[in-house]
Amino acid sequence: MNVQTPRTSGATNVQTPRTSGETDVQVKHTADITNAEESLAVQEAQSKFDSDDATALAMQNTLLTPRFYTTDFDEMDAIDVTPVRKDWDKLIAQMVSDPNKGHFKKNEDWDHVDWDGMEPGLRKEFIDFLVSSCTAEFSGCVLYKEMKRRGNNKDITQLFQLMARDEARHAGFINDALREAGVAVNLGFLTQKKKYTYFRPKFIYYATYLSEKIGYARYITIFRHLEQHPEHRFHPIFKWFQEWCNDEFSHGEAFALLMKTDPKLTSGKNVYWIKFFLTAVYATMYVRDHQRPLFHAALGVDPDWYAHEVYTKTSKLTQQIFPITLDIEHPRWQPTLERLQRANLQIAEGKAQGGLGGKVKTLAGSAKAALCFASLYAIPALKHRVPDSPRLEPAY
Ligand SMILES: [Fe+2]
Ligand SMILES: [Fe+2]
Repeated sequence: MNVQTPRTSGATNVQTPRTSGETDVQVKHTADITNAEESLAVQEAQSKFDSDDATALAMQNTLLTPRFYTTDFDEMDAIDVTPVRKDWDKLIAQMVSDPNKGHFKKNEDWDHVDWDGMEPGLRKEFIDFLVSSCTAEFSGCVLYKEMKRRGNNKDITQLFQLMARDEARHAGFINDALREAGVAVNLGFLTQKKKYTYFRPKFIYYATYLSEKIGYARYITIFRHLEQHPEHRFHPIFKWFQEWCNDEFSHGEAFALLMKTDPKLTSGKNVYWIKFFLTAVYATMYVRDHQRPLFHAALGVDPDWYAHEVYTKTSKLTQQIFPITLDIEHPRWQPTLERLQRANLQIAEGKAQGGLGGKVKTLAGSAKAALCFASLYAIPALKHRVPDSPRLEPAY
């Protein structure tokens, strides 16, 4: 897998043209806005503070960095939610009630952050974490907003409008935190210039459902850990993680219901695809987190423990809709993840080294990584009976 991509030369900061509504939008905060377009306008108005490096980092497209997606919006617009109507209406009513309106902004709980005093290695990894999280949030926002814009189906457009609203707030809040460190991601620039990956709707369901549920599991695991060990809370943003992950939880619920409308999506040969996405999402998380040792040390979290904890929670949750889970207790699971991680280090070293020797090293690392992935995929999955109604409430 590709870890260290060179900065794209085109990733310089562009000043987005100011809209005539600038004075209106500047007085509002992204936390209070209920419409993704307006939220983005606020962030564009702030783009004069954005930094080239953070935007360049967000522009990277590797197997490990968050991507932007596009899909067949007409096919998604044709979904009929009648088979799950009761659960659907309940979930939508909950999202419309907007319990987190106004939540994602700094208040008196926002402690002062000593960015200059932060150990440089930690500072670098933490900024990398924030930029990558912001890109992931924003990637969701862009996809959901586009579905809302293209669709005519009232159920579908309403859902995607609500989810775009949440992701725009999340991205805006991370950008607030980054701005204190003198960096911020230029979201307007990303929308225009970042490469979009096309996924068929069913792949969007698997990938997005999983990223929402694993996002919930990741945020809540850190939040619970820091409740027990507040001395490790080195930045105030972690205090916001509980409400944050509840938003992600609801988004995951929505995708579970969407998949429930068509039993074919979670049966037959599609189960192989589900296994593929589970393996890819788990393996990517493992490798990406192990690239940030100082960040995890500052949190007092062992990345191996954290990965296992997040997989356990995610596997439990995904039984609501997926008929299989990965056997993370299998004797080959953990050692293969570790080998995959080492293969990625080798790829990064090869790229840094350059020349023919570097190329050989990179190729050898890539071959090893591919074999590791195949080996993880080949571990027999655990089978489950899926409940009639998928609906769950956040319980961790
Ligand atoms: Fe989010
Ligand atoms: Fe989400």
